[in-house]
Amino acid sequence: MSTQMQEMTRVATPEMHEKFGPKFVTAVPGPRAQAVVAEDDLYISPSYTRGYPLVVKRGYGCRIEDPDGNEFLDFTAGIAVTSTGHCHPEVVKAVQDQAAQLMHMSGTDFYYDLMPKVAARLSAIAPMKGPHKIYYGNSGAEAVECAMKLARYHTGRQNIISFLGSFHGRTMGALSLTASKVQQKRRFAPFVPGVTHVRYPYAYRGCSGGPQEQEAFALGCARYIEEKLFKTLLAPEEVAAIFVEPIQGEGGYVVAPDIFLQEIRRICDRHGILMVVDEIQSGAGRTGKWWAIEHSGVQPDIVCMAKGIASGMPLGVCLAKADVMDWVPGSHASTFGGNPICLAAALATIDIIEREAMPNAARVGAAALERLSTWVDKHEIVGEVRGRGLMIGVEIVENKQTRAIAGDLRDKIVDLAFERGLLLLGCGANTLRLCPPLVVTQEETDVALDLIEECIVQAMR
Ligand SMILES: Cc1ncc(COP(=O)(O)O)c(C=O)c1O
Repeated sequence: MSTQMQEMTRVATPEMHEKFGPKFVTAVPGPRAQAVVAEDDLYISPSYTRGYPLVVKRGYGCRIEDPDGNEFLDFTAGIAVTSTGHCHPEVVKAVQDQAAQLMHMSGTDFYYDLMPKVAARLSAIAPMKGPHKIYYGNSGAEAVECAMKLARYHTGRQNIISFLGSFHGRTMGALSLTASKVQQKRRFAPFVPGVTHVRYPYAYRGCSGGPQEQEAFALGCARYIEEKLFKTLLAPEEVAAIFVEPIQGEGGYVVAPDIFLQEIRRICDRHGILMVVDEIQSGAGRTGKWWAIEHSGVQPDIVCMAKGIASGMPLGVCLAKADVMDWVPGSHASTFGGNPICLAAALATIDIIEREAMPNAARVGAAALERLSTWVDKHEIVGEVRGRGLMIGVEIVENKQTRAIAGDLRDKIVDLAFERGLLLLGCGANTLRLCPPLVVTQEETDVALDLIEECIVQAMR
């Protein structure tokens, strides 16, 4: 990189880059990493979408070490999962202690204290008034499956409304709600019947006006449900639930305006429909509050949680108002759901998020968003920067006038970042996704943003 470019873009000092930045000891992927990739090619399902050949041996905090000893700065958190950082010592200890005591006893048939203990903690931080009831599964998709079945069971209604751009998982029920990328659905039909997709308030792609017009656009998206759908296609009294991500994750880190979520709540109340929020990516402190829906003041009926709630141990949670979770024994269960080790990890995770990670996400996220927002004027290909806390999207376009989607440029930036030792993911068609562990420091963030800016400048050439 030229000195000129350094002066133009860098905020972190060279010493900070030296101390907190990536470190290479071989070309990447090095020989050991290459061997893993070659063996993986032999055996592993080709359905996975590996963007670049990162091989992981060890993780600590926001750093990843590969088998050749190269060190990377991780701004993916394993897709927004390692909320407390990789291998946080308190989580590791909780997992080790629990593993030595009890690994499994199927909470669907027997009792152990971690099930109500974690439930009580989750109930205390839930985004709606209690009392609550809680179901444990093993993944985000399972939390969504539970919410779908519960919504039908409780209401006795069959239909569900979901949003274009949404991602709710890949099992058949969750996939039926998903409308993110067509490859996720190609050749898997027929899907679970009764799902209708409507427009999400993706203002940058739906409306070119100022804040007032964007609000009007968001309101229009919500009101379409009542004013068009309910009058032409779908009887409201036959709708069980509206599933919504307060911030679309895979769809491109698109933030729903508060007014949209408030209007969805109003529509649900008016027609006896359950409001289900999918907080699998946006929750667990990522936006600087426990749940992204809290920014809007809206109280949902059901919340789906997973990813960051147990720092990487597999846990999905469906939390509902107690009077909504009214199904009878045998209606729903899972052999592994609420595994003791995962619940022990969740308890430690909740402590760490509450104590330090969530305030850090609010503080470091706000500073990052402020700096990133200046890039919209500074760089022709940065169309929009949006997000809350440490859930930040940078939308890459061909130019600001046309806003033409520049997916290839976005991918190039992700690749260039990898070459520099910074791990990023894309989301949506053309957005860079920034979702580091919630314990990322200001220094690490300054270094990472310097690297991203260098990549943007290089990609434009
Ligand atoms: C919002 C949202 N819902 C559901 C899921 C599915 O979670 P899982 O992959 O754990 O099944 C994801 C995963 O990316 C997600 O982001």
